[in-house]
Amino acid sequence: MQKEPLIYIDGKFVDKSKAVVSVFDHGLLYGDGIFEGIREYNGNVFRLGDHIDRLYDSAKSIRLKIPLTKHEMTEAVLETIRKNQLRDAYIRLVITRGPGDLGVDPGLCKNSTTFIIVEPMASVLGPREPKVVKMMVSSYRRDAVDATSHEIKSLNYMNSILAKIEANSAGADDAILLDHRGFVSEASVTNIFLVKDGKVATPSSSAGILHGITRDRLISLCSDLGIDVAQRDVTPFELTTADEIFLVGTKSEILAVGTISGAKVGHGGAGPMTKKLYQEFSRVVQRAEEGTPVYEAESVNV
Ligand SMILES: Cc1ncc(COP(=O)(O)O)c(C=O)c1O
Repeated sequence: MQKEPLIYIDGKFVDKSKAVVSVFDHGLLYGDGIFEGIREYNGNVFRLGDHIDRLYDSAKSIRLKIPLTKHEMTEAVLETIRKNQLRDAYIRLVITRGPGDLGVDPGLCKNSTTFIIVEPMASVLGPREPKVVKMMVSSYRRDAVDATSHEIKSLNYMNSILAKIEANSAGADDAILLDHRGFVSEASVTNIFLVKDGKVATPSSSAGILHGITRDRLISLCSDLGIDVAQRDVTPFELTTADEIFLVGTKSEILAVGTISGAKVGHGGAGPMTKKLYQEFSRVVQRAEEGTPVYEAESVNV
């Protein structure tokens, strides 16, 4: 019989079919919790330190106590991958407020719940061209920075889900959300970059974005390549006049935007800047020094 994947829950490894949390967990009842989506490439966890730092910042901002130190959490992630013997994986690290009563008060939740799921996932980055997606502009606005801030990577994704439902019914792959002022924010689960006349721009924090780790790495990659990237307010007009638009995120990696609400972006495929960054980024994720090694050289034979 095939072995089931092992899930980490609060320090124990359990079979996937037995990996359950309480129906009184406020992560489930109220979306009260935080998470990270992380990638392992060829036995190295890409920018694990950045993910762990963002997780603890999210926890701090919602006053959620994580019972593990950053070092212990890092080890828990690595051990979960080792237990499942994966070399290319997607990792979902979740911390909920834990079980409480049926009221919203997080003060009544005594112990948070931590779980880690790892699944095999191969990179789509590589010699081929980036995938091209059809987008629309959502009628839903990204939550404001003083509302359900997406700077917190929380379990509350209803804002993105509503935009995704709208995109699904319009036959688009995904939607771009504007912020409460009408400036471009991000897509449902990716950050956005625009290229015009060789210059690259991406919305800044004021647009209510998640501070994406892929976005950060792309900005530093551009700077290494001598490409100017402005982090600034981006108007919807710029979406309609850009030469190229691309989306970035841990799971999606880099996607070229072909159309927005049926109108072509540039030539309607991946443009030269998008292709260049896609090729360069595919090398970055494979570099050992960008990641945390999961296996000691001689230990596990996977
Ligand atoms: C709303 C949102 N924006 C952007 C991103 C991209 O962030 P990262 O590159 O850290 O995966 C994500 C990733 O899940 C997201 O959910």
